[in-house]
Amino acid sequence: MKICEALPLLASITGGYATVTDGEGRRIKTFDSSGRELEDYAGTVYELAAQSHRENRSLIGESQIVKGAQAWVLPVGPFVVSCSNVEKVKREQGLKRALEKALPLIARVAGGEAVLFDREGKRLASYNPDGTVNKEFLHKVSEAAKRAMELHEPVIGDSMSYPGAMAVRIPITRDYGMGFNNELAAKNNTKLYEEVKKFQYARYNFSDIIGESEVMRRVIDMGRHVARGMSTILIYGETGTGKELFAQAIHNASERSHKPFVAINCGALPASLIESNLFGYVEGAFTGAKRGGAPGIFEQAQEGTIFLDEISEMELNLQAKLLRVLQEKEVTRIGGDKPIPVNVRVLASTNKDLEKMVREGKFRSDLYFRLNVVELKIPPLRERASDIPHLVMHFIRKYNALLGKYVTDIEEEALEILVQYRWPGNVRELQNCIEHAINMVKDEQKISAGHLPPYIRRHFRVPAERGRAPVPRETLAETLARLEKEVIEKTLREVQFKKKEAAEILGISTTTLWRKMVQHGLQE
Ligand SMILES: Nc1ncnc2c1ncn2[C@@H]1O[C@H](COP(=O)(O)OP(=O)(O)OP(=O)(O)O)[C@@H](O)[C@H]1O
Ligand SMILES: [Mg+2]
Repeated sequence: MKICEALPLLASITGGYATVTDGEGRRIKTFDSSGRELEDYAGTVYELAAQSHRENRSLIGESQIVKGAQAWVLPVGPFVVSCSNVEKVKREQGLKRALEKALPLIARVAGGEAVLFDREGKRLASYNPDGTVNKEFLHKVSEAAKRAMELHEPVIGDSMSYPGAMAVRIPITRDYGMGFNNELAAKNNTKLYEEVKKFQYARYNFSDIIGESEVMRRVIDMGRHVARGMSTILIYGETGTGKELFAQAIHNASERSHKPFVAINCGALPASLIESNLFGYVEGAFTGAKRGGAPGIFEQAQEGTIFLDEISEMELNLQAKLLRVLQEKEVTRIGGDKPIPVNVRVLASTNKDLEKMVREGKFRSDLYFRLNVVELKIPPLRERASDIPHLVMHFIRKYNALLGKYVTDIEEEALEILVQYRWPGNVRELQNCIEHAINMVKDEQKISAGHLPPYIRRHFRVPAERGRAPVPRETLAETLARLEKEVIEKTLREVQFKKKEAAEILGISTTTLWRKMVQHGLQE
């Protein structure tokens, strides 16, 4: 019988068994996917096959052998051919059982809830980090798990059962997947964060802000002025320009200076943790929620100031909730229904262009306008080079005290290098640079170019190249010769006239260097 020869092939393609029956559905031959004949099944009647013969059409139905597996039957003359995916389904069911067994272990190792879910993201089994069964979330649907199943890809995101925790959801087969989170780690994080919050207060005043340049004076004046008001202030500036410094100074210069100042970095914490930190929660709002609930920052900062650092990083749905609190001037704890009136002044900071983010739909325009009542724009350091000498002296004093040094000043050449540098990290980078230099100082009194971090020195262009100093009229050859002399001289000084090192830096041979030194009169 030709059909029988095709059966092993069919079985291997469908990942199951293939059978040929007679018109009454009686099995003649059955093969598994490895081509082995399963003689035990001979003679048993398969109703789906009989039906297919009666109705003379192919059918899809349930397998007779493994529950949950499917079979496909096709009448061929007096016979019916059928094949199923029973082996595949058996394998998957075995894997699922093994996974169910492993779940409590996974929960322990990951330190968080471990779950098995179905195609819809519904929890089929759930275990606590201590390995016990978790009934609370059983049968609940996780949207992220559902998405993982739809995408056939792992999805990593916020945990639904514990705010602040991260969760991974992995599709295993078409019908189920597994996931776990790091609840315990997040709990420790929260604790740590609450500890940090206790020590939060505004240290800085406007007198701590160094800025003599015209632009900076304007910003400082404006800051002092608006500090006295009630309005929300959006502080805009590149990284390290002093946004936090301004926020603290504004609080301290306001009528609220004796009330709390609480800052929260919207970019540093997961969205769920930000939400519970901002608004607080009631007892039982989620697993790990404290007995009696906890107040959020809005309540803690009552009558004071709240600083929303890196507001651009806040998720859109949280932005909506924040806006509601700002407009209603009341906050409702997560899981609660009682609105609590809050009197809090909001300062926010960003280093991203919020207006652009609004245009791109990444930031709510209504929140933007609500926050941007007053805008303080702190210019980047490269646009206020005249502040650099003052900042340098300020940081020299600061690090003298911290590092026990007696540096009094900075040499002209070193300052020139600093004034010229672009400062992508702004004032923070300058501060680090001076800290580095003061560490490098042995018993000199002044910071010299050699004390500065090499990466900053490397950016230095000799002044004449910039055409800063008035350059006397000269021929091209004269200019080149002058520049060459300046570069060689500077390099030699930097390496204390070690010619081999200087030649290496300049990319010329020592003999060439020697010749040029003689030519320019640069002997020690
Ligand atoms: N004008 C200034 N005068 C004195 N110190 C300053 C000034 N601007 C910034 N600093 C110092 O530089 C460091 C960075 O400032 P701050 O943390 O306020 O910047 P930021 O804009 O909040 O940075 P980021 O965007 O990285 O959060 C701080 O140590 C701060 O004290
Ligand atoms: Mg900051």
